[in-house]
Amino acid sequence: MYSNNMTKINETLKRKIHDLMLKNKRNAGYLQYTVPSPSTYPYQWLWDSCFNAIILSYFDINDAKKELLSVVSKQFENGLIPHMIYWEKGPLHNYEWGNDGTSAITQPPVIGYSVLEIFKKDKDKIFLQKMYPALKKYTDYLLSQRDPRGSNLIGIISPDESGEDNSPRFDIPLGMSANQTIKESLDRRIKLIADNKKCHFDAPFCMRNYFWVKDVPFNVIMISHLKAVAFIAKELGESKDHDLYSHQVKYITTSMRKFMFEDGLFWSVYGTDYKKIKITSWAIFVPLFEKLYTQDEADSLVKNYLLNDSEFNLKFLLPTVSKKEESFDPEGFWRGPVWFFPNWFVYKGLVNYGFNDLAEKILQSSLILLETQGFREYFNPLTGKGLGAKDFTWGGLVLDMQKV
Ligand code: GLC
Repeated sequence: MYSNNMTKINETLKRKIHDLMLKNKRNAGYLQYTVPSPSTYPYQWLWDSCFNAIILSYFDINDAKKELLSVVSKQFENGLIPHMIYWEKGPLHNYEWGNDGTSAITQPPVIGYSVLEIFKKDKDKIFLQKMYPALKKYTDYLLSQRDPRGSNLIGIISPDESGEDNSPRFDIPLGMSANQTIKESLDRRIKLIADNKKCHFDAPFCMRNYFWVKDVPFNVIMISHLKAVAFIAKELGESKDHDLYSHQVKYITTSMRKFMFEDGLFWSVYGTDYKKIKITSWAIFVPLFEKLYTQDEADSLVKNYLLNDSEFNLKFLLPTVSKKEESFDPEGFWRGPVWFFPNWFVYKGLVNYGFNDLAEKILQSSLILLETQGFREYFNPLTGKGLGAKDFTWGGLVLDMQKV
């Protein structure tokens, strides 16, 4: 059986992951959360907390629940869940992210999936009841405020909302060159936040005037979020919500095909005329997670891109940008390096289509990086060198790369 062939995470690594999660655990009054990295990222981040909850559920299900309860505790009146909560003062206070105490932008909605994963482990309906109002409010915010044209694609108002801050997918919409520095990218993104602040983060207005990308990963994650929230609604007897969110899954799926699909791949689109951004990044693999490719399309995708030595088949998997791209930089943050969330995501997508050996290869590569470099933020795909923040929690996701 497939599961018997899978690599077993050894007890030593499991213990190291547990120690890291305990080291990064923080309290804020009666709330509890996990910092992604004590020195570089000493706050709470939205999608990090969703991954952290999945990791924590392998050690202590109550810690996993607390992580998610705290990340929704600063939800805005309009439903937005901010991507950063500054429980304590720290280095990023030098930058303006739009609000006091939190940022004023969001991150991909991994939260529905994460809540459902936790629920599957102990079937605690009280936890679902506690989370549901925030989930519903956030979902309704995304559906109403991030899709002003009713085209059934959810928009982001800043690259940082994708979680891939300086990804080359955003170069054209930002009017930047492929050879920008990290500093130039940060300055440009901070300027965008200042512009968005001028219009009080009114998303439809901000999107029309400053930056409007309908990103592939965000929309795939939205599909997974909607499925989870529809399931949770049903568990709680909210049948109207269940129907509403289930329909939205179909609408977004149809629109992604209509607006984003060309030449066998899904591309992010931008602006009022939905222009395709033809930059080959790991985002082309993301639709595997929600089975948006047919089996034939997935076969070609794997053959032409994942197994292609001049695109993604580098020494360490998975580079976040194809080696062929002008913007490819093996040490450039989201412009080439390997990150663990993409690996976890693509691992699951490959398993969906029966590419079990390839999924296993991604896991093996992740384990080698962890064992040789430790819990670093990202890794050079050509040399395996660990880069960025230390004691970074995402490596713990290998625990969840074991399932069928
Ligand atoms: C960086 C990453 C972002 C992450 C944050 C905290 O900004 O690009 O995805 O959420 O660090 O780990």
